[in-house]
Amino acid sequence: MSTPTTLYARLGGYDAISAVATHLVGRLMADQRLGRLWAHRGTDGLQRELQLLVNFLCNATGGPVLYTGRDMKTSHKGMRIDEGDWQAFMGHVNATLDHFGLAGDDRAAVVSFVESTKSDLVEA
Ligand code: HEM
Repeated sequence: MSTPTTLYARLGGYDAISAVATHLVGRLMADQRLGRLWAHRGTDGLQRELQLLVNFLCNATGGPVLYTGRDMKTSHKGMRIDEGDWQAFMGHVNATLDHFGLAGDDRAAVVSFVESTKSDLVEA
């Protein structure tokens, strides 16, 4: 069988990406440094944000999913995300990919996509 053409398919499709996003957000919320950004949020609001993240990642990796959220610059503006926050975030991305055993070119593609959003997010 040939290798699936989209990164979305190679990662395992919607369910796999949803599981990765859920794991990542759980880690971010529990982080001492980053948790401030999710503190005092209601469950429904958190679930909507998680759904937007799943949709964003599915869409960006070539899946048949529409992303209806805001762009990265608009949605993170004013959070004062600095370089230290970014490093902590990437630590959780890498730990999440370790947890799911993603390696090789597909892992590199995911990390490089996340890194490509950095200049829209880090503002302090
Ligand atoms: C240090 C890094 C980051 C922090 C602290 C952070 C934090 C947050 C928070 C608190 C929200 C909820 C915003 C709200 O309720 O209005 C959010 C939304 C979102 N984030 Fe991030 N984020 C980070 C990096 C990223 C990255 C790298 C991506 C994508 C690869 C991403 C994708 C999204 C998406 C798709 C949303 C939903 C946008 C919307 O509400 O329209 N975030 N982020």
